[in-house]
Amino acid sequence: MSQYLNYAIELAKMVDGQTGLNPPVGAVVVNRGRIVGLGAHLKKGDKHAEVQALDMAKDAAKGGTIYISLEPCTHFGSTPPCVNKIIEHGLKKVVYAVKDTTLPSNGDEILNSHGIEVEFRPHNEAEALYKDFFIAKNEAIPQVTVKVSCSLDGKQATDMGESKWITNKSVKQDVFKLRHQHDAVLTGKGTLEADNPQYTTRIEQGRNPIRVILSKSGQINFDLDMFNHPSEQIWIYTENDNLVSNIDRVTVIALTDCSIKNILEDLYEKGIGRLLVEAGPTVTSLFLQSNYINELIIYYAPKLIGGSGRNQFFHTETVVELAEVPQFEVVNSDMLEQNIKLELRKK
Ligand SMILES: NC(=O)c1ccc[n+]([C@@H]2O[C@H](COP(=O)([O-])OP(=O)(O)OC[C@H]3O[C@@H](n4cnc5c(N)ncnc54)[C@H](OP(=O)(O)O)[C@@H]3O)[C@@H](O)[C@H]2O)c1
Repeated sequence: MSQYLNYAIELAKMVDGQTGLNPPVGAVVVNRGRIVGLGAHLKKGDKHAEVQALDMAKDAAKGGTIYISLEPCTHFGSTPPCVNKIIEHGLKKVVYAVKDTTLPSNGDEILNSHGIEVEFRPHNEAEALYKDFFIAKNEAIPQVTVKVSCSLDGKQATDMGESKWITNKSVKQDVFKLRHQHDAVLTGKGTLEADNPQYTTRIEQGRNPIRVILSKSGQINFDLDMFNHPSEQIWIYTENDNLVSNIDRVTVIALTDCSIKNILEDLYEKGIGRLLVEAGPTVTSLFLQSNYINELIIYYAPKLIGGSGRNQFFHTETVVELAEVPQFEVVNSDMLEQNIKLELRKK
């Protein structure tokens, strides 16, 4: 165990959700028991964590050790290889917590050949941090979180479509944080019309996500609030070739087949690494039935709405046997005043 490796992982966690298609990485340079440099990769295209930390350390890095949450890169991407920078600064040792399975891994040999000791020190928390990132990168689709606010009987709205507000103000604040941690928020036209939402992040220094709207029909009412205050870009996925918009920051993307897979592949190509789905039961159910969901977050209010099965957050056309239903594991639970937050991962 090393406190310095833990610091590097903490730095990586701090920038988790803001690095787009790149992984969140933290690095700490230590020499003779003193921290001489700290760094985190802040966004795609920016300096890598190792480079930030070594630039801070300057000559004080010579003979020291660098602790990194992820194996240093050996390739020329939008920035030069980090192993080169480590060699240039004359470090004695490199310690990292996770091997990057998405890149050619010959960094250890390159560093060893320059007399630098390398230690791969596996770390559970760091592994969990990169697990979904590696899958998303290999499959070239974003990491997907589905968020649902509902009553105890799983209703996102009453049969009359009333949904403001089922859950409480603390949930609202928590959802603002979720938006901040994702590159884009996706919803369906049903929600756009029923709730007239903004999907902004009303927290201090909050980053507004790109808004993604699904409407196969392309029957969009451009008088809604979101289009009148487009603080961030709005992308509309449709199968209607005739849909056009002259509104600044609104882009129409017409696909011949608006399947979840096609939409996700296109979003990843456009730089979306993390996607939050905040939709009504139609789109929510589509995602929950797909294989493209990493995390499900449910906020339960202690209410029973009743009525028919309408607006139940999960519904399917066919009923499958219990052994075949989507299964989740609970990774965390929290009380937000009188509401319960459940964080689940698809098995
Ligand atoms: N409590 C909550 O967490 C929460 C959150 C959101 C919404 N809601 C409630 O949910 C209700 C709305 O439910 P909903 O099921 O109608 O909303 P929805 O799921 O957000 O939107 C459904 C619409 O999405 C479009 N769509 C679906 N699949 C698509 C695909 N593969 N490609 C492109 N477009 C696709 C279709 O639009 P077209 O018909 O134009 O093709 C469809 O009518 C409202 O009462 C709202 O208040 C509650």
